[in-house]
Amino acid sequence: MVDPAAPILLFDSGVGGLTVLAELRKLRPEAPVIYFADLAGLPYGEKTEAEIAARVAGLLGRLSERFAPRLITIACNTASTIALGMVREVLHVPIVGTVPAIKPAAAMTKSGAIGLLGTAATIRQAYVDRLEAEFGNGHRLIRHAAPGLVQAAETVLRGGTPDPAVFKAAAEGLRSQPGGAEIDTVVLACTHFPLIEPQLAEAIGTGVRFVHGAEGIARRIAFLTQGQDFAREKPDLALFTTDPDQIAYLEPALKSHGLERFEAF
Ligand code: DGL
Repeated sequence: MVDPAAPILLFDSGVGGLTVLAELRKLRPEAPVIYFADLAGLPYGEKTEAEIAARVAGLLGRLSERFAPRLITIACNTASTIALGMVREVLHVPIVGTVPAIKPAAAMTKSGAIGLLGTAATIRQAYVDRLEAEFGNGHRLIRHAAPGLVQAAETVLRGGTPDPAVFKAAAEGLRSQPGGAEIDTVVLACTHFPLIEPQLAEAIGTGVRFVHGAEGIARRIAFLTQGQDFAREKPDLALFTTDPDQIAYLEPALKSHGLERFEAF
């Protein structure tokens, strides 16, 4: 029996996981949620595999002990493609990961050229090679690391305006590769990127569709929690590996996602 007050824990390096939370709210509005952002570790995409694995495993271990979640979602492609397997080995709780939506993109493309925007750490993972081999239908997958986009998304959620050059550079990074001119579908392989989809769409030009995993992940969480009871005893909590005083500028965005309490972790 699952404790009705046991939360669903969403884990990301920053605000990217809010794109998953927004979809989850549509399917499980009654579910108590804890949103965790490792802002002291952001950006994960520029770290080594060992650094990311250590952070994710250590933090999820501590979070599980303290909050006894019914389910954990690693709402971060970088953390999932590196650490999902190892944390599943040691934590006795269902863990849903976030991996690049190559399968739906391969079903959508007409031109046969798919772009993939992710962090530097994500795009070099063997996990992505395996997804491409298994689900890419033989289409051309053109990968580009766009680290500037993570900060741009964080800026947007804080109410700021990022430099448009960042979006132009990301579009150019895809278009300038062999076959890049034919791209008609782009996988947003970082949970931060749907937050800046309009800016990316403008930079890359018309006729390109974007795909990301947030809806699919929310459906998976809903499926795994089917039949469970939910009771929200306190307003939902956001936790940060920084002083909560320093996240005041994020409060409107957090509140709009139903997160009402803020604490340092
Ligand atoms: N949101 C994370 C992802 O989905 C990456 C952000 C970062 O570089 O920390 O990959």
